Amino acid sequence: MLFDANLATVAYIGAAILFILSLGGLSHPETARRGNLYGIVGMTIAVLATVLGPRVTAAGIPWIVGALVVGGAIGLYAAKRVQMTQMPELVALMHSLVGLAACLVGFASYVDTSVAYTAAEKAVHEVEIYIGVFIGAVTFSGSIVAFGKLSGKIGGKPLLLPARHWLNLAGVLATVWFGIAFVGAGVEAGVVPLGIMTVIALLLGIHMVMAIGGADMPVVVSMLNSYSGWAAAATGFMLSNDLLIVTGALVGSSGAILSYIMCRAMNRSFVSVIAGGFGTGTAPAAAGGAAQPQGEVQAVSAVETAEMLRSSKNVVIVPGYGMAVAQAQHTVYEITKFLREKGVNVRFAIHPVAGRMPGHMNVLLAEAKVPYDIVLEMDEINDDFPDTDVSMVIGANDIVNPAAQEDPTSPIAGMPVLQVWNAKTSIVMKRSMASGYAGVDNPLFYKENNRMLFGDAKKMLDEVLVALKS
Ligand code: TAP
Repeated sequence: MLFDANLATVAYIGAAILFILSLGGLSHPETARRGNLYGIVGMTIAVLATVLGPRVTAAGIPWIVGALVVGGAIGLYAAKRVQMTQMPELVALMHSLVGLAACLVGFASYVDTSVAYTAAEKAVHEVEIYIGVFIGAVTFSGSIVAFGKLSGKIGGKPLLLPARHWLNLAGVLATVWFGIAFVGAGVEAGVVPLGIMTVIALLLGIHMVMAIGGADMPVVVSMLNSYSGWAAAATGFMLSNDLLIVTGALVGSSGAILSYIMCRAMNRSFVSVIAGGFGTGTAPAAAGGAAQPQGEVQAVSAVETAEMLRSSKNVVIVPGYGMAVAQAQHTVYEITKFLREKGVNVRFAIHPVAGRMPGHMNVLLAEAKVPYDIVLEMDEINDDFPDTDVSMVIGANDIVNPAAQEDPTSPIAGMPVLQVWNAKTSIVMKRSMASGYAGVDNPLFYKENNRMLFGDAKKMLDEVLVALKS
């Protein structure tokens, strides 16, 4: 034992401070690397203080080291293999593991008879276990369904069972009822209500996420992030581990704040998203392709695009999921650099749910070394489109869809969008007329002042760059 109880407490406080600094750092691309580093150091201290602390016996160490090696190897392999565009799926899968861990720890600490509790302590401990297993099971099954939806293995169309709100309510009431039967029942009798509640919680998690439409998935991802935090906090209570409680609460509350911010960005009410059924509409489907194109579009070539860019004073670039798929950010940077050197005012407009995860576009642009001061949030730049010569949409679709404002029956109605059509000319770069994530047609494509540059974003931008330089 290298860490006695006092040293372990000091190490935990240090780790908790590092986690708070980490969250602070992650709030801006410029400080994100530092934030990540704080998180890594904090987690290393936390693991060392726990494994080498007073509560782990020497006999347990080989098991822990074995689990660390296996888990670490899987994590390393997954992180190396996963594409940037698959990140949200990976995050959803990781949330599911936190939920599963909370369930397993709950069952293990329930059947563990090595710790003797007094009557009151025992009741509190059982309530902790019950709540921890409940949150863990909802997080686990909900995250698995979210993973399925994000990876396209499960359709994005919401599953709207009749009387679904009543079903949820019945599930919650049954959970409370079995909870009353559970607390105070001996271990053998208590396992039955605990097991039944776990099944109900798993079904609730599946039902909750299945009922949410593709357009609202961003909120679900951050909501599950929050749940995974609360599941970790509950695990901390079960194990009487203060650091896990603090860390879980940090993740839980930051996830909740993020969900709230995203709901505001998409003009959704948080409660309605959780209750499910939004993002519905007539023909929604995840991963594009559902809606039929309506109207005529005007196609342009890369050379014509270069010509329009060269003769502009103000250009706004709107990146979306397609830029991530095509990995076009480096060419985007080259074009930006070229135009800026020629005196063109080039800026970027970032929608809060562009791409497939919060901050997706910021990360890609930062990777390509685009200066932060020309990367603006939606609210900062939306009013500037009327003074813009060319708005260039690179692989974005839902986030520039005027139907969100003009068609109250649209599944994305009410979601604030980047008003690229207010520029003198808008150019949309994509491969086909397929719809975006929410599966809705985009009237922008048919507007008088809109041009379509069809093709893979990277390939077309390479051609635009060649044309600009020639
Ligand atoms: P989308 O609406 O999904 O549109 C992306 C467009 O990129 C597609 O229409 C696709 O059209 C095009 N594209 C794909 N690959 C391309 C390539 N290689 N080259 C050129 N274009 C390509 O993306 P968005 O506008 O960024 O909006 C994000 C959507 O995802 C929103 O509905 C949002 O709610 C949802 N969502 C967001 C998040 C977060 S947190 N950001 C998480 C989950 C879901 P083609 O197939 O015709 O090329």
